[in-house]
Amino acid sequence: MYFKESNGFPETFLWGSASAAYQIEGAASEDGKGVSNWDQFVRIPGKTFKATTGDLAVDHYHRFKEDIALMAEAGLKTYRFSIAWTRIIPDGNGEVNEKGLAFYDAIIDECIQYGIEPMVTVYHWDMPQALQDQYGGWENRQIVKDYVRYATTLFEHFGDRVHYWITMNEQNVFTSLGWLTGMHPPGKVMDQKMFYQVNHHANMAHAYSVLELKKRYPDAHVGASFAYTPGYAWDCKPINAMAKADYDDLQNYFWMDVYAYGRYPKAAIRYIESNGIHIQMEAEDQKIMKQAAALIDFMGVNYYQTAAIEYNPIDGVGMSTEVNTTGKKGTAKEEGIPGLYKKPSNPYLEKTDWDWTIDPMGIRMCCRDITSRYDLPIVISENGLGAFDKLEEGNVIHDPYRIAFLEAHLKELKKAIDDGCDVWAYCTWSFTDLLSWLNGYQKRYGFVYVDREEDDTTAKLNRYKKDSFYWYQNVIKTNGKDL
Ligand code: BG6
Repeated sequence: MYFKESNGFPETFLWGSASAAYQIEGAASEDGKGVSNWDQFVRIPGKTFKATTGDLAVDHYHRFKEDIALMAEAGLKTYRFSIAWTRIIPDGNGEVNEKGLAFYDAIIDECIQYGIEPMVTVYHWDMPQALQDQYGGWENRQIVKDYVRYATTLFEHFGDRVHYWITMNEQNVFTSLGWLTGMHPPGKVMDQKMFYQVNHHANMAHAYSVLELKKRYPDAHVGASFAYTPGYAWDCKPINAMAKADYDDLQNYFWMDVYAYGRYPKAAIRYIESNGIHIQMEAEDQKIMKQAAALIDFMGVNYYQTAAIEYNPIDGVGMSTEVNTTGKKGTAKEEGIPGLYKKPSNPYLEKTDWDWTIDPMGIRMCCRDITSRYDLPIVISENGLGAFDKLEEGNVIHDPYRIAFLEAHLKELKKAIDDGCDVWAYCTWSFTDLLSWLNGYQKRYGFVYVDREEDDTTAKLNRYKKDSFYWYQNVIKTNGKDL
């Protein structure tokens, strides 16, 4: 739509940044923390860039006060972070670790002291390894009970101070990469049947925990964060428009419809059943999914890029089990689902060094689509640019590319708000530099540079503000008017 005037961002808008426990905390075995699936997975040779781990990460565990003081200096209104299940219940379903609760109490209290609204992600991919060993983790329905007990422990302990909860981070990513491409734990490749089953368990874990939260705190705000990659039909050939519809049902609505409506898209279910896959459900599941859907308050969106979608013949390209983790532009491969769609490189868009398309308008597309389809408020729970940054003499970092990227996205987000989308928050990924799961420490996202490379032993971990830090500070101060 075109509007002569812009209303701008609402006064209550939550400007923020996001992180995840495994990617920043370090202190991998301190104060009773248990071993997570990621602690173990990164030790398999060849899984991560230069065999990097989160053992030390950026040592947020010991430096969180310094980091949160910097957030306050930037003017952040919200800080989205995740809690490590292994700090709270080290073996997943046994005793609660008081020291784990105390660590997050300290983070939450520190945020509140500065007027920063804590936004908590219950699960950002780091599952207790003990549950994997006990019964196969997400593959076993038992995980639903254990997850809900863990989540409820958080709600009961922190619910008096935390008003924004995200149950799951990118369920679509951890299930696909865990059971289809083998790039995340448990590293299974093309186990389609288990992929859909695991995903259903995650849906039920989400749904039951929403109900538990709302029983205790009816006014708490809750949603899940979905990695939304909007698709554009390659051209106006009807078959490519149908390929986009297939892509949406299987890659986007397959998750968002569950969060918002409590049901799977019909065509997607028909398709997977025709391939001999029947999701095992318990008698009450559909009812519980609907009850939870009626209670969620927002759709969390992690937006990074869009995809071009073209029909893929039955003998066409399959899913890729490799991605560009080196930052050598142009090394990503085309992938798709034979008989349905493939994702050719979009010639109209620039790409990052890791071959992610750069498409600011995509963030507006996400908001428009969610508003039309679900009529839900939106929390942009992640958006950012992974880039090589250079620490220069005088400890300065000039990152005009990051400023340009974020500014362009925020301009589009502002238009989405003018379009009538109810956007509550915008969290950049990330605040400080942190570990990029598969890409080591060279793919940087932060406003604050952390002085470390892949090697833990030489890491100084000093924090230095990049140019983008000051830029975001001004955006927040002016509530986006200066964009
Ligand atoms: C999202 C995740 O997928 O994107 C983050 O929620 C992740 O945890 C971010 O770090 C960027 O991805 P990457 O692979 O560049 O680190």
